[in-house]
Amino acid sequence: MRAGRDSNQCLQAFLDDLPDQLCASRIDPVPPRNHNDWSALSPQQPAALFCPRTTQDVAMLLQVANAHQIAVVPQGGLTGLCGGARPIAGGVALSLEKMTGIEEIDTAAATMTVLAGTPLEVVQNAAADAGVYFPLDLGARGSCAIGGNAATNAGGNRVIRYGMMRDLVLGLEVVLADGTVIDATSKLIKNNTGYDLRQMFIGSEGTLGVITRLVLRLYPLPGCTHAALCGLADYGSVLRLLDGARRKLGPTLSAFEVMWPDYWQVACEVPGVRDPLQGQHVFRVLIEAQGTDEDADSDRFNAFLEDMFQASVVEDAVLSQSIADVKAFWGVRDACAEFKATLGPHLAYDVGLPTGQADDFAKDCAVAIEMAVLGARSVYYGHVADGNLHLLAWLPGSDDQPAKALDAAVYATVRKFGGSVSAEHGIGTTKKPYLQYSRSEAEMALMRRIKTALDPNGILNPGKVIDA
Ligand code: FAD
Ligand code: LAC
Ligand code: ZN
Repeated sequence: MRAGRDSNQCLQAFLDDLPDQLCASRIDPVPPRNHNDWSALSPQQPAALFCPRTTQDVAMLLQVANAHQIAVVPQGGLTGLCGGARPIAGGVALSLEKMTGIEEIDTAAATMTVLAGTPLEVVQNAAADAGVYFPLDLGARGSCAIGGNAATNAGGNRVIRYGMMRDLVLGLEVVLADGTVIDATSKLIKNNTGYDLRQMFIGSEGTLGVITRLVLRLYPLPGCTHAALCGLADYGSVLRLLDGARRKLGPTLSAFEVMWPDYWQVACEVPGVRDPLQGQHVFRVLIEAQGTDEDADSDRFNAFLEDMFQASVVEDAVLSQSIADVKAFWGVRDACAEFKATLGPHLAYDVGLPTGQADDFAKDCAVAIEMAVLGARSVYYGHVADGNLHLLAWLPGSDDQPAKALDAAVYATVRKFGGSVSAEHGIGTTKKPYLQYSRSEAEMALMRRIKTALDPNGILNPGKVIDA
């Protein structure tokens, strides 16, 4: 904001300078949905909301905002869990929700070109309809947008096989803070021509540019999928199961999701969720393998589980007999999407840890949380094979969660284990004070230099990730 002028004057001057087609993309009043993301932060109404339909309109909006030094917060599907898309008081929200659609599926290159506001599930279904596969998958698939997935470097359920968004995006179109459009929509897997610019924007959470178009990497549609839900007695058995799965299932292993007992209990309280396993087990593991040949892959999967029974690694297991069973197993894992309704307000964490230490971390963290906030609870689950543990922490019955105390307890424990404060959700605002636990001062200084070089006026998502 310019010196000597108040924020209302600045905003009015910005609005006055917008061309007619941009004024037409303004949504007024701003719907409550655009006041927040999925984090536990309180809603914040932006000064204005724009939903442009073209890259040129995004470029024009940023150019004018930059000239007037108005903060712009990019918004995708608003399912982010750390405040990244939460508006800033006095700033504008730029939603990509009207920029949707699949532009091309190139089966020879195995790519899909798509607009940034397209929901992930639409991308997945369009790929399947064309007989190919886009492997990114997460519980928020119906609501999150592919541009938001790239901006957060989303991970999800099948990272073990296909990697994170960094591995799934071949090209990008991105608009810089001054309105410059960078067309880096390459379809090439091998493109060794200087700096990899696309990677700078992936995971930058809307602080370096607005992603408007993406070239995604596609894979063959799996010929068959097998899954099992296993009950195990201890974490040592979980690690032996993972080792066995890596060895015996090889590259077909597509998911290895671990659920601690308290998580399981809370998940089974979600209406409609049924426990497919009878009996008491300390750990539950959902294993999935995607193959090419039903007979051969089914034999391999069954033989692997049989071995695990023989070796007393697994206490009990249910095997999928159909794709409906695979979906039902994922239903239990995805039940956490409903916890807002069943648990009430809670804080969600996505820490990175050495896989072998996840259980020691969970035990220490639960104690740290109880000591920090009397009566607080925590449950643990996650993409453990990727070294990514999720935990939910909350003070039952409290509308105003003690976030500061809970965050401090969790991240001090992460630091003790040499982990990362975010494995997949990003930093946003909620983890900003703790970025220094996972990044050196030199790394943070370089991040600030990049931010200042690309956005010298600091208009793009200011206050998120790191201060310039
Ligand atoms: P938003 O929340 O709208 O925005 C997220 C960030 O990206 C913000 O900083 C925003 O400013 C920026 N942004 C959005 N669009 C653009 C754009 N086009 N250009 C530049 N910046 C942009 N995440 C995982 O990684 N793995 C999971 O397994 C997972 N499971 C989830 C399950 C549930 C039930 C929920 C609610 C969330 C889950 N998430 C998960 C978190 C979230 O869904 C992801 O971070 C997702 O990638 C966010 O996409 P979005 O479109 O909703 O982004
Ligand atoms: C999950 C989200 C929270 O994996 O990342 O359920
Ligand atoms: Zn996750």
